[in-house]
Amino acid sequence: MDSPQVSIAADQALPLFADGLRNVHALDKNCREMLERQVERLEDYPQVEARLREHLRDKAAQLQRIEGILQDLGESPSGQNEAAALGGHLSTMTNAPATDGILKDSCAAYAMANLEIATYESLLVLGEAAGKVDAIRALQTSLSEERAMANWLAEHMRETTVMFLKTKSEKARRPATERRKDVLELGERMQPGRTASCAGLTRASTWRRSTGRFAETHGWPGQARP
Ligand SMILES: [Fe+2]
Repeated sequence: MDSPQVSIAADQALPLFADGLRNVHALDKNCREMLERQVERLEDYPQVEARLREHLRDKAAQLQRIEGILQDLGESPSGQNEAAALGGHLSTMTNAPATDGILKDSCAAYAMANLEIATYESLLVLGEAAGKVDAIRALQTSLSEERAMANWLAEHMRETTVMFLKTKSEKARRPATERRKDVLELGERMQPGRTASCAGLTRASTWRRSTGRFAETHGWPGQARP
């Protein structure tokens, strides 16, 4: 990192550094939540799943680093703040079930990694201004992990999209009953418990429609046909 010309006393920079650490801690947690949801629906994309699981391990280490630095400063992580809210927005972007979920997930993961890169870059300057050399070394490791993640996603975006098209075309050739099962399974993964009840309601309304039609044509069971 180039040494910036810092014109602020270390004791003035320290609370700004602590705020920055809390900020990135919240952001890392947003990222972890997002990744945890994403890896659950990547069975068709084992390469992406493996890489995101690896990044989840990075994430655990990054959170530990931040918590350690905050502890050394006599500080603790706090609740959400502005940057974390932005990270939270990115994280929820991938909540809704979508037929092109893998593409949205990859873009959101890429955007999240870049948001983290910018946040870590800024944090390094704050740490330097506060004179926290050891902390800077640890944060550089986290920054490198984020850069590696962002690069990997960018380098594999085309390949992932080709895989998405292949999977889509293979699934389109499968019988309708199997495709319906896929949709229900996807819904169940996205919102456990709700899909089963939706499927139940769908079956009930189909039954009502069919019995209604039966009643219109034939009368209700036990009734004389019109
Ligand atoms: Fe990340």
